[in-house]
Amino acid sequence: MNKPIDARLMQPAEAFANYLKNAAARIDVGAEARAHDDGARVGISRPHESAQLHVAGEATYIDDIPELTGTLHCALGLSPVANGRLTGMSLDALRALPGVVAVLSAADIPGTNDCGSIVHDDPILCSGDIRYLGQPVFAVIAETRDIARRVAARAKDVLTIEAAPPVLTPQQAHAKGQYVLPPMHLERATHEGGAKAAIAKAPHRLQSTFEVGGQEQFYLEGQISYAIPKEGGAMHVHCSTQHPSEMQHLVAHALRLHANEVHVECRRMGGGFGGKESQSGLFACVAAIAAHTLQRPVKLRLDRDDDFLITGRRHCFWYEYEVGYDDEGRILGAEISMVSRAGHSADLSGPVMTRAMCHFDNAYWLPDVSMHGYSGKTNTQSNTAFRGFGGPQGAIAIENILDTVARALGRDPLDVRRLNFYGKTERNVTPYDQVVTDNIIEELVTQLETSSDYRARRAATAAFNAASPVLKRGLALAPLKFGISFNVKHFNQAGALVHVYTDGSILVNHGATEMGQGVNTKVAQVVAHELGVSFESVRVTATDTTKVANTSATAASTGADLNGKAAQDAARQIRERLAACAAERHGGDAAAVQFANDKVVVNGRTLDFCTLVAEAYMDRVQLWSDGFYATPGLSWNKETMKGRPFYYFAYGAAVSEVVVDTLTGEWKLLRADILHDAGRSLNPAVDIGQVEGAFIQGMGWLTTEELMWHPQSGKLTTHAPSTYKIPTANDCPPVFNVQLYEGDNFEDSIHRSKAVGEPPLLLPFSVFYAIRDAISSAGDHKVDPPLRAPATSEAILNAITAVQASAA
Ligand code: MTE
Ligand code: MOS
Repeated sequence: MNKPIDARLMQPAEAFANYLKNAAARIDVGAEARAHDDGARVGISRPHESAQLHVAGEATYIDDIPELTGTLHCALGLSPVANGRLTGMSLDALRALPGVVAVLSAADIPGTNDCGSIVHDDPILCSGDIRYLGQPVFAVIAETRDIARRVAARAKDVLTIEAAPPVLTPQQAHAKGQYVLPPMHLERATHEGGAKAAIAKAPHRLQSTFEVGGQEQFYLEGQISYAIPKEGGAMHVHCSTQHPSEMQHLVAHALRLHANEVHVECRRMGGGFGGKESQSGLFACVAAIAAHTLQRPVKLRLDRDDDFLITGRRHCFWYEYEVGYDDEGRILGAEISMVSRAGHSADLSGPVMTRAMCHFDNAYWLPDVSMHGYSGKTNTQSNTAFRGFGGPQGAIAIENILDTVARALGRDPLDVRRLNFYGKTERNVTPYDQVVTDNIIEELVTQLETSSDYRARRAATAAFNAASPVLKRGLALAPLKFGISFNVKHFNQAGALVHVYTDGSILVNHGATEMGQGVNTKVAQVVAHELGVSFESVRVTATDTTKVANTSATAASTGADLNGKAAQDAARQIRERLAACAAERHGGDAAAVQFANDKVVVNGRTLDFCTLVAEAYMDRVQLWSDGFYATPGLSWNKETMKGRPFYYFAYGAAVSEVVVDTLTGEWKLLRADILHDAGRSLNPAVDIGQVEGAFIQGMGWLTTEELMWHPQSGKLTTHAPSTYKIPTANDCPPVFNVQLYEGDNFEDSIHRSKAVGEPPLLLPFSVFYAIRDAISSAGDHKVDPPLRAPATSEAILNAITAVQASAA
């Protein structure tokens, strides 16, 4: 048997220490900021605005807010059955228990029993139909959290349910024609007859199925809401949410209040990843209903297992496709059906499927294509947004197709991928009719191919495998193109408020929420840049529905794009007023007044910024302003699925090298090289952090994170870290070369930067295809490995066994 090929495989701790050392050297944030004191405040690496608080444990999350006297605690009683009818509840037995203050059910909701975000099909508490195992049926409010949880855990003893067999998989739902939304179709015919004719005429055809699993967001701070009744029946809710405005609306409807009577606030989340876009609604509503009913503050903080059992996550997808291609591997026609596991209600399944269909093309021109999207209704948690919002699920399907086509033709997969890339002036229209005008995929991939030494390492991998019967290496490059903007046009707007106080200090409030991604840091940089002051004089406060109204979710990676522009608009107005005031007092042209390095230069004189502010106040100049931004040029027809849904595209590519043990299915990522396009980055350190985080998170999705529902009971059996394996620091590759591509956004985005939150989640496709490459080598690359995602060790071993059996 082979010895381990690389000592690094055996020493994850050492590998991680090495990684940390490299990371520290790369992001000496202080040094770069100091070196750049030319007045620019954007384009500079600086630490996250709360970095110090995060590491010191001093950053306030909802559960850290000091509790008011009289605060009660809530826990939810969950359905122990996945499908059926609720025929009885004996809640009085629970009400009588010591420490219990109230037990509430659907009948106690003063307003609408619904927390659906788009389609109103999502009950807050069960109103008769049991839809999934883990569905909240009643709420226990008690003196302590412990009592509430113990009492809520008695749900199975007090609920009478007529059970029915559950529908659990997307395939089962599809067979029954059971969907949460009408099926969607997106077609484009470049040649007569469209996809079907192109496939029929093609020299080669491929017909297959594929599946990818779902993924738990696994935010470190679980779902939590703290509701505080206010005078006159109003409600204040501290909620860990990506979407305070939606929480405000849902709570208002549940309590029969107006929006102006509900105040929702979120300083930061301990991670959201899409899981707190709509799904924070149920908890905000229950806490608010309880607080309203009892007129006492009520906190609802979920236990991790309950969080898994109640909330939805990334949709798993099942695909059935047929493509036609030529002798070199050009895709001539493609037809695909994508079926997602939507869960029991629509939630964001519509936007997720739309984004999946708008990303099936990834970086490739598909002349004749026909896509069908089905959001399967199942007796499971209602699936929702998760970093990439269906985009990763759409794009991985075409990557799987191209990987298989390359193998069938005996060509290097990179050559086949490249052949299919979008062109610059032709072959540049997406299936949804948007013209790709900012295509940099060829340049970016070529740069990475060289810097990662792709060709030589492909040859080295083959040589290694020829001499190694048990351990097999694999290497793959995967590109990405990701559309930026919400597909729903009206969500692409944002507002901000900037206050300049008389001492020259500045406070910013904007519509985005901070979940660790650094949007507050970027917005503060934009404001500091605009007013020519140091970053330290700008403070960003909690997202708050009483400050900026009607905000969109912080999602689709648009947080900094939208809110950065809105804050810039506000700051610019103040700067213009200050400039006018300076010219008035000191002479010269207002347009020539300069703001940089905390100084203002006017008519040859240099003033401190705060001196000018004090003067402006005396002159009765308005020192605060609102700002607004709406992304220009967008259009989308939901019916035909055509238009220009995206303002621009972000690009990237990664090369990953793995080693697989063919006897056990274990594997290890040896090296990853990433080149990612963040436009003219607002903050390279933060952006590199986003790229690394997304890469590792996406790698978890495609490899170790596996969700299992019990086939009879429908219980999610993987509902804790003991059974659900997310990557850890030790899973970072010992060689991890992450770089940002140098190049401005072609569009007039905020300082020509590009959104970076979600696109890099597609980079670890390279890990999955490297594993597939290693498995394929076990059959001399003659057999296409039947590998599904996640490629767990079990799945890898099964694929190896199948490859070896067919090759023999
Ligand atoms: N980064 C951290 N640290 N925590 C998160 O929850 N969410 C991701 C991404 N990066 C997330 C994150 C998701 S799903 C999105 S849509 C974007 O951040 C949202 O923030 P942005 O629009 O400001 O980039
Ligand atoms: Mo991100 S999935 O759009 O919250």
